[in-house]
Amino acid sequence: MLLVTLQSYNTQPSREFQHFDLPSRGASVGLSFRAIMLLYINILLLCFDLAICLAVGVKNGQHPGQPAKYRPLPSLREQAKVEQGWRDERIAKIPDLLRKYQADAWLMSQREHAEDTIWWSIKNATAFDSHRRTVVLFHTKSLSTAKLPNPIVWVDNTGQVWSDLRALFEEHNFSRVVVNTDQDIAFAGGLHVGEHDVLLSELGEKWASRFVNEPMLAVEYVATQLDGQLPYYRMLQETVWAMLEEGFSHKVVRPGITSTEDLSWWFREKIQEQNLTTWNQPRISVLVEASYPGWEGTEDIIQEGDILHIDFGVTGLGLNTDTQHMAYVLRTDQESSEEEAPDSLKEGLRKANRMQDIVFANMAVGKTGNQVLRESLDQMKKEGIEGQIYCHPIGDWGHGAGAVIGRACSFFSGRGIDHLPGFLNLPEFVPIIGELLLLPHTYYSIELYAYHFVKERNETIRFRIEENAHWDDNSHSWLFVRGRQERFHLIDKRKAMSNSLTVQAP
Ligand SMILES: *[C@@H]1O[C@H](CO)[C@@H](O)[C@H](O)[C@H]1NC(C)=O
Ligand SMILES: *[C@@H]1O[C@H](CO)[C@@H](O)[C@H](O)[C@H]1NC(C)=O
Ligand SMILES: *[C@@H]1O[C@H](CO)[C@@H](O)[C@H](O)[C@H]1NC(C)=O
Ligand SMILES: *[C@@H]1O[C@H](CO)[C@@H](O)[C@H](O)[C@H]1NC(C)=O
Repeated sequence: MLLVTLQSYNTQPSREFQHFDLPSRGASVGLSFRAIMLLYINILLLCFDLAICLAVGVKNGQHPGQPAKYRPLPSLREQAKVEQGWRDERIAKIPDLLRKYQADAWLMSQREHAEDTIWWSIKNATAFDSHRRTVVLFHTKSLSTAKLPNPIVWVDNTGQVWSDLRALFEEHNFSRVVVNTDQDIAFAGGLHVGEHDVLLSELGEKWASRFVNEPMLAVEYVATQLDGQLPYYRMLQETVWAMLEEGFSHKVVRPGITSTEDLSWWFREKIQEQNLTTWNQPRISVLVEASYPGWEGTEDIIQEGDILHIDFGVTGLGLNTDTQHMAYVLRTDQESSEEEAPDSLKEGLRKANRMQDIVFANMAVGKTGNQVLRESLDQMKKEGIEGQIYCHPIGDWGHGAGAVIGRACSFFSGRGIDHLPGFLNLPEFVPIIGELLLLPHTYYSIELYAYHFVKERNETIRFRIEENAHWDDNSHSWLFVRGRQERFHLIDKRKAMSNSLTVQAP
């Protein structure tokens, strides 16, 4: 998902050039013959796809061959067990991380409803908000602290925590204590100012002077995902695809009747029905030249010949997804009857797919986000592709911790660049979070668009797609969690009609 902070300056009416001017295909072919031909062609295509897959790996055919199925999650009780396992495994990595960033301890202090951002990635599975004042101290488990629990946790409403903490600091003489006071990176800036003041006054100058801001500690902790999470992330992604395949079909959309907002709310209900939640309102729009940036086409009745776009994500098991797909509403009238999306649209999608390949090819761990961006934009230029890239980490949060590749997300403050009118003006260099390094064992949302001129509409459309990828340790590369969109979802009114015929009594 992208948070657009600018108004759209394009005030063109949204539904101009709505009509394709395609040559008539003639409607004289009988349906049953057509159905048989389609089946035949599909089988041929499948064989062809398989042959390509076998020949060159999955690189050129990453659109899943099978329709997605809904993958229900286990019971809440079972989910809590799974999440607690992940949480234990993740916090067990903190001592090594502290050593990596030359810190002796990591101190958080928070009150119920004013939690440190990190709380949500360290809390027990059956914990929700923090209680009273909850002080958490992680340490390196070095010789002197080896026998202490890690983290040490105080749930305090008497002030006892401060004398305990002073005694602990005296005993172990911590030299570098990380507190989350970063001014730009949300994940490393979750210590509320009131708590910071209390820490300073209760611990005094001697210990407060040993506080350090070490933002990559928080970033790396939050961003790093575990091998055991991937099978569950795959389930979530397949459920997302199942929703897309159902929502973008004749089962849900009635051209001329269903609105983009109806469809948004259908997705919201569907997410709830699957016992998942979301982190952003599903946004459906009818894509026209003016649809981006801004909200053009999000309050429309869906018509035949429309290109539809969705941007949505789900949340489950503490993981988040973020996906953008495109659909095409087939024309079904006699003169311009269609069986598939027009070639010009397929070409636009192919360009966007090519951009995904380019980004993957440049996404080496250890480069900065801006480096990956620069190299990808250069390669696009060589290939004559125009578009924009705005990839972001994902996982514990929809817009996760780590280096962004392209335009910044909402958690970035934009401090020091106030003279620019908005994030959309950062297509080629992102300060601070674009300068972070790409980390392995993380998830990325590959979010981008390719411009493509669609002759029939006399419009340059942004082909906007987004797919989630994970780091693969075996191949040392990024892979899509569940393939990627290479074909339009098709909404075909005739299928709804033939369904109603089949339920007639013989
Ligand atoms: C998690 O639960 C354990 C066991 O009840 C408790 O000792 C620990 O303090 C909890 N951790 C946090 C961060 O609250
Ligand atoms: C305690 O830590 C400070 C700061 O790192 C150091 O200068 C001092 O020598 C240490 N004291 C002891 C007794 O180790
Ligand atoms: C959602 O949860 C309810 C209540 O536990 C359960 O009955 C239902 O089967 C679940 N649905 C899915 C799709 O998992
Ligand atoms: C296509 O659009 C351009 C600019 O919007 C306009 O000048 C031109 O006349 C249009 N061409 C056709 C064939 O409609």
